[in-house]
Amino acid sequence: MTRADGPSDSLPRIAIAGAGIIGLSCALELAARGAPVTLYDPNPPGRGASWAAAGMIAPAYEAACEPGVHPRLFELCLESADLWPGFAERLQRDSGVHLGYSAGPSLAVAADDATAQHLSGILENLKAKGLPGQQLSLEEARQIEPALSPNLIRALKLETDGYVNNRAVVTALLTLCERHPNITVQRAPAPLHARGSDLAIEGHDLLLVTAGWQSAVLKVEEHGQQFSLVNWDTTLEEIDSYGGQMLSVERREDHPSTTLRAGVIYMVPRGDLLVIGATMEPGRTEGMPDTESIATLLENAARIVPSVAGARITDTWSGVRPGTPDLAPFLGRTRQANMFVAAGHYRNGILLAPLTARILADQMLGHQTSELANAFSPARLLPA
Ligand code: GLY
Repeated sequence: MTRADGPSDSLPRIAIAGAGIIGLSCALELAARGAPVTLYDPNPPGRGASWAAAGMIAPAYEAACEPGVHPRLFELCLESADLWPGFAERLQRDSGVHLGYSAGPSLAVAADDATAQHLSGILENLKAKGLPGQQLSLEEARQIEPALSPNLIRALKLETDGYVNNRAVVTALLTLCERHPNITVQRAPAPLHARGSDLAIEGHDLLLVTAGWQSAVLKVEEHGQQFSLVNWDTTLEEIDSYGGQMLSVERREDHPSTTLRAGVIYMVPRGDLLVIGATMEPGRTEGMPDTESIATLLENAARIVPSVAGARITDTWSGVRPGTPDLAPFLGRTRQANMFVAAGHYRNGILLAPLTARILADQMLGHQTSELANAFSPARLLPA
């Protein structure tokens, strides 16, 4: 992202399908290395899951100990979290958009035994990696964040878990992509067509699929008929949808000024708003947000921060997380030789954007990637 080379004749011409935070970050990284890139999306760039997110960069809380998760997701998330300070600084400097990036800490708290146990698991994972994570007394936690309820039973300070204004990030990325001489942004579906059993993209050598939960259903034209992209690699069908609903309230003096987590609930101060999320609804993509879920979310948030009860709601919205069977992204070449994928980032799309861009640019431009990156190839789901 730091070099501004012109397009190179020796590098592949790349089409990217999907202009969310992952597609935009990959486009910028590839273009900075000299590859000509066309970014396709029929929907407004960055306005899907990337816009709905709360902007937490939370390797410890999100990735450390979900049951069934890819065993190396925590490592991948930590590596990407390490890239964030430099990534945010360059994006902010080059675009002039203020990103509000903070490296941490966040507080994680528990009001019930199951959540307290989850926090103990996070602490163990951090300790196993020699990373800072500190159990706080309730008094210590309330000194840092006086808005917390006095009825909590456990609190952790997570030095690894930070925040960025995700909407500002996609605005900055889009500004830079639109400005970059090697990138063309097309507000249209990627014009994919079949040539024999192969996939072709007129005027391009390689395709990168970054369309989140909709990756499998991108359209490919064959003999005048439309087929879903999943026919070219069935692994894409493994990307499921997980709906999430959120709201924002007017932030008052007695509301949190620290990013807070408790079970699936989080509260994130964003300027004069407090963002509150999120539901986790497997398979749901429509009919969100709904009044009942938003009311329950606010009620649950008020168990952690009593002052949010009755706060003025300024907005409600929803997004759809893309999740693979092991809740970790597919990164790399698909079964189709000229098609790569970077999708299925589940709860970690914002966090994993800089590392995803680096890995995909390396792989698509023919460089070796680390053993850690290779562990996230979609081939991991194929029978041995
Ligand atoms: N990373 C927050 C969420 O997925 O709700």
